Amino acid sequence: MRQGPEVKINFNKKRSFCYYNLNGRRFKVYNWKSSTTCIEPNKEPNLVKRKEDLIKLKKAIEKDFRKTPFNIEKNLYDQSLFNERIPISIFEHPIEGSIYAAKIIADTIINKQHLGENCILGLATGSSPITIYSELVRLHQEENLSFKNVITFNLDEYWPMNKNSKYSYHKFMFDNLFNHIDIDPKNINIPNGDVSSKNIEKHCIKFENQIKKLGGLDLQLLGIGRNGHIGFNEPGTLKSSITRKVRIEYTTRFDASEEFGGIDNVPNEAISMGTKTILDAKRIILVAWGSSKSKIIKKAIEEKENDIIPASLLQSHNNTLFILDKDSASNLERFMCPWLYTDINKPPFKPLSTTIIGWNKENIKKAVIWLSLKKKKPILLLTDEDYNENGMGGIFEHYKSSYETNIEVFNLLQHTITGWPGGKPNADDSSRPERSSPPKKRVIIFSPHPDDDVISMGGTFDRLIQQGHDVHVAYQTSGNTAVWDEYLIEIFEQNDEIYKAISKDSSFLKLSNKYIKQIKEYTEQKIDKKGFATLNEIKGAIRRSEAYQACKLLGLKDKEKIHFLDMPFYQKGGKKRKDISKKDVDKVKNLIQKIKPHQIFAAGDLNDPHGTHRLCLRSIYQSIRSLKNLKFIKNCSIWLYKGAWNEWKVNDIEMAVPLSPDQIIKKRKAIFKHKSQKDGAVFPGNDPREFWQRAEERSAKTANKYSELGLAKYAAIEGFKRYRLDV
Ligand code: F6R
Repeated sequence: MRQGPEVKINFNKKRSFCYYNLNGRRFKVYNWKSSTTCIEPNKEPNLVKRKEDLIKLKKAIEKDFRKTPFNIEKNLYDQSLFNERIPISIFEHPIEGSIYAAKIIADTIINKQHLGENCILGLATGSSPITIYSELVRLHQEENLSFKNVITFNLDEYWPMNKNSKYSYHKFMFDNLFNHIDIDPKNINIPNGDVSSKNIEKHCIKFENQIKKLGGLDLQLLGIGRNGHIGFNEPGTLKSSITRKVRIEYTTRFDASEEFGGIDNVPNEAISMGTKTILDAKRIILVAWGSSKSKIIKKAIEEKENDIIPASLLQSHNNTLFILDKDSASNLERFMCPWLYTDINKPPFKPLSTTIIGWNKENIKKAVIWLSLKKKKPILLLTDEDYNENGMGGIFEHYKSSYETNIEVFNLLQHTITGWPGGKPNADDSSRPERSSPPKKRVIIFSPHPDDDVISMGGTFDRLIQQGHDVHVAYQTSGNTAVWDEYLIEIFEQNDEIYKAISKDSSFLKLSNKYIKQIKEYTEQKIDKKGFATLNEIKGAIRRSEAYQACKLLGLKDKEKIHFLDMPFYQKGGKKRKDISKKDVDKVKNLIQKIKPHQIFAAGDLNDPHGTHRLCLRSIYQSIRSLKNLKFIKNCSIWLYKGAWNEWKVNDIEMAVPLSPDQIIKKRKAIFKHKSQKDGAVFPGNDPREFWQRAEERSAKTANKYSELGLAKYAAIEGFKRYRLDV
């Protein structure tokens, strides 16, 4: 079955790009990027190599065409099969999804140009569309896409909000898109956050009428909030709502708190297009990237339309497409339990329809765990009938019966459990997660922020020390932006009292007063850059000393083994972190080379809403990859932990370290050493509980899942997944 249109890709050797003709227009492609590959022939000076790159580029574009679903009907088969209420297109990586979304937007603009008409676009802000906008800018700069016929309407703006404020959606749109394209400024419409309270109604109705007068939106681009909001249409929004002033939900304000330097600075209200305004658009595309969106994406697509999940209201629109990456789609039934809907032995006709193809050891483990939890029966009690009724009869081609399958999976799970995370010395390790030798291992625990180590693996950390391993901890960032200004003042005031008690010298008091004054000036936005940097230094010092106290409590007292990497990407001042550089990777790499560890523990928890964990993990992966030919790295086990924001699913866990009730208390005390993070962290994400509460709940939940599956009952379990170098 053909997936995309038949298009011939040519290349121009002299000028080093590929081109193709589509809908009467010539498209030039200079490079191709995916999460792992980057093909850029125009940067290759050597002519022979450049030609090779051009051939690769041609193949990559052809592959893209083959896998790109060009119209919604092509999705209908999968949609019907998996009972999805909204058509979706899934991509391996957000960049690929963004290019696809940008292409839909560009095609809409070009089609309108051919008709000699204006194109009325509804646009969104937030982190999700940023890559789409940069692709549109590229199309403008490199492929002559013109925005002269485009009239835009933005979904929303905070209220009150000055247009020039660094937090305004106005500024966002100009920085990311409008400043780089040829749109006529008169054609840009964004709700005005400056409008006075008495003129809001008039302003909203005018905004709404302007869209109507132009014949409605040709295309509306949307992101989705973690509570399912579209625009600022929060849960409970009426389907009939139009542009108006709205209250912003607490969870939404939490998500914006980092940009604003704390939730208290996030406005409570906004002006937003209504759900009806959005639904009246001729075409809608909603984009969502990353696992933090996976739960709400599942609800919006699989649950019956309801106003508690505003994005589900899009189900009644006849031309809506959700563009997802694999992570945001990962909770859909097609990925969680496709065997219930289709014969997974047959590969799907479209790539990524489901990532589970065929029965193998890993898929069988996943399916049996799913079945046991679904039937609320321990694994060893599952019957042939349970398997057959749930589309899992195919497993009996591998194992003869439910009896054999149950035992196989039960043992697999049993073998993940160990009280010896560094390996049990002199024991038979053939079915243990970690090897027994050497009996004393060099270990590096990487912690993105100064408390992730104890929050996510405090119990395992404790055991590694107790069992005599040579443990090093590397704190990748200072975590200084997460210290409240009020807390800093409190520390200064406390220290003032101590100084007064022990010394007559008033120089510390003077200094401390100076800083307290600076903090107040900062709040009033008057502080200079230098003063701001000093305050951040002090906040970093507080977090460093807290981390040291936590390590000491767990028995790691040698300061030489506690490393503060202060990776440069971690900009101070609450700006969005973009990417790591060579300098970041070098810091991690140098430490790994110096310690030559037998084991590395790293945060694999990519649900962190601010992206810091993701970048920290990327720096570790890049370091490991660049060292992969060294002997010690080949023998190094790399274990990924979660816990601060999320927990591994049981089928992902390859090492499960149980915690006794006493260890849970010890872990809690270690987390408590991070006093600046107690009683309300600055950036708690969408979970108002403190980190120790989340960590305890999650590790207890994992332990309960193990016991529900019929394994031993523990008070808590910390789970780890192995990162394989060859993957
Ligand atoms: C943006 C907007 C919001 C965002 C949503 C997702 O104009 O109205 O609905 O689309 O909050 O934001 P990100 O993309 O940052 O996750």
